[in-house]
Amino acid sequence: MSDFVNCYESATRAEAYSKLEFANTYHLAFRDLPEIFRAHVKGTAALDFGCGTGRSTRFLVSLGFAVVGVDISQDMVGKARQIDPKGDYRLIPGDDMSALQREGFSLILSAFTFDNIPGMETKLRLFGGLCELLKKDGILVNIVSTPEIYLNEWASFTTRDFPENRNAGPGDEVRIITTDFEDRSPAVDILWPHESYLEVYRRASLEMVEVRRPLAKGDEPYRWISETRIAPWAIYVLRRSS
Ligand SMILES: C[S@@+](CC[C@H](N)C(=O)[O-])C[C@H]1O[C@@H](n2cnc3c(N)ncnc32)[C@H](O)[C@@H]1O
Repeated sequence: MSDFVNCYESATRAEAYSKLEFANTYHLAFRDLPEIFRAHVKGTAALDFGCGTGRSTRFLVSLGFAVVGVDISQDMVGKARQIDPKGDYRLIPGDDMSALQREGFSLILSAFTFDNIPGMETKLRLFGGLCELLKKDGILVNIVSTPEIYLNEWASFTTRDFPENRNAGPGDEVRIITTDFEDRSPAVDILWPHESYLEVYRRASLEMVEVRRPLAKGDEPYRWISETRIAPWAIYVLRRSS
């Protein structure tokens, strides 16, 4: 993980991120999760991998899960604890998941965590580690940005300053600015298309149960730009290969 620069290791970014909730483009990432969990998850022990300032952790708690939130950023975990002192937020070093219970979780949620993690090998190590934490019938839900998010305009994001995103291939850097908060420094993500995720899942012994790319219906109270036509997120529902 030596080449990995975590843009979330910053007090400014943690402060900005803590203001994000479930509005605008993010609505589409969370809207279908209750239904997905009802359909596939048996049990309440959950891990929020890459919990950030705890938005996704608190979302899981509100649905009745007993959640451990883990992150590698001290600033993000510190902010999560400040917002939610009763929550279980843990700082983990690098890709070391040894402090977490093997086969301990019915649900692992990874919400936007893989968007800026570079390289096949690191992803493989992390998915392999997560796979070991899943109960035998556990479910891993991985929410990531679609390649299209970096090429279009959105209620929550702009990419118009980064025409070079169009030339990016799998594994290349892409940039995107969140317009939902004031910190306009771009997030530097790594383009990782559907086929590349399929390869990681296969090599990490994860099997796809379903994939969803939610679109807006048009009657939500948000000013959609591309969201009714183009899906900004892919939601992968995965289980251990049998
Ligand atoms: C885009 S934020 C998402 C936060 C949260 N899931 C949410 O929905 O608000 C991604 C988070 O993943 C964390 N992260 C990146 N690599 C990680 C790793 N190897 N292990 C744990 N967390 C990681 C970052 O520090 C950052 O806080």
